[in-house]
Amino acid sequence: MPLTENQDLNEKTRLPRHIAIIMDGNGRWAEQRGMERIRGHFEGAKAVERISRFAADELKISYLTLFAFSTENWKRPSAEVRGLIDLLFDYLKKEPDELQKRNVRLRFIGRLDDFHENIREEINKAINNSQENSGLQLTVALSYGGRQEILQAVQAISDEVSAGSLTLEEAESFDEEDFRAFFYAPDLPDPDIIIRTGGEQRISNFFLWQAANAFFWSTSTLWPDFRESDLQDAIKAYQMQH
Ligand code: FPP
Repeated sequence: MPLTENQDLNEKTRLPRHIAIIMDGNGRWAEQRGMERIRGHFEGAKAVERISRFAADELKISYLTLFAFSTENWKRPSAEVRGLIDLLFDYLKKEPDELQKRNVRLRFIGRLDDFHENIREEINKAINNSQENSGLQLTVALSYGGRQEILQAVQAISDEVSAGSLTLEEAESFDEEDFRAFFYAPDLPDPDIIIRTGGEQRISNFFLWQAANAFFWSTSTLWPDFRESDLQDAIKAYQMQH
C-alpha cells in the first residue's frame, strides 16, 4: 500500500477516530466456491488480521470495532457455531504476540458469559496482556446485540437502585452520558463510520445507541475479499460527507 496515499488521507481531511465493521458475506464467499461455510469464516479471520494490521500500522486510527458474533448467530447450525468459536479460540491463542508487536489493545463487548469457561479465560488473558498497549484499540463484539446492550444497562441500573448504591432520584435524572456508563465499554467513543460488507444495507442490531450519528457505508464486497483499499474507499466517502 503506497504510504503517500495514506498520508493523503490523513492530511486532506480528518481521519475517523473510530471505525466499526459488520463483517458479512463469509458464507456466500464459501458457497460461491462450493466450499463449506466455515471455510468462508476461516478466510474472514484472515481479513480480520489484514484489516486490523492496516488500521494499526498504516492508518493509525484509534479505535476499530469488529462485529464477529451476534446474539442471533447462536441460532446457526451447531457445527457452524462450533467452527466459529474454534476460529475465535485460535485467534486468541495466536494473536497476542502480533498485537503486542503492533501495540494493539484488545477489548471485547457483548454477553461474554454466553461462552464456555475456556474461551472466557483466553479472552481475559488477551485483555490483560494487551491492556497497557497504547496504539489501536481493537474491540471484538461477541454474542453482541445492540438491544441487549441497552436492556442490560436498564437492568444494571435497576439492580443498583434495588441494592441501594443508586437512589431512584439519581437514576431518574440520568442524562445520556450517565446511561452509557452501563454499557459494555462506556469509554469507547461512538463510531464515525459503520461499514457493512456483503451488500446488505441494514444495521442488524449492531451499536444501536452508538450509531446515532455514524456515517453508514455498505459495499457488496464479501468480507473475505475486503482489502485495505476498500477501507480507504470507505474513509474517503466519509471524508467527502464531512
Ligand atoms: C457473517 O458472514 C460473518 C460472521 C457471522 C462471523 C464473522 C467472523 C469472522 C470474520 C471470523 C472470526 C472472527 C475473529 C475475530 C477471529 P455470514 O456467514 O453471515 O455470511 P453470509 O451472509 O454470506 O451467509
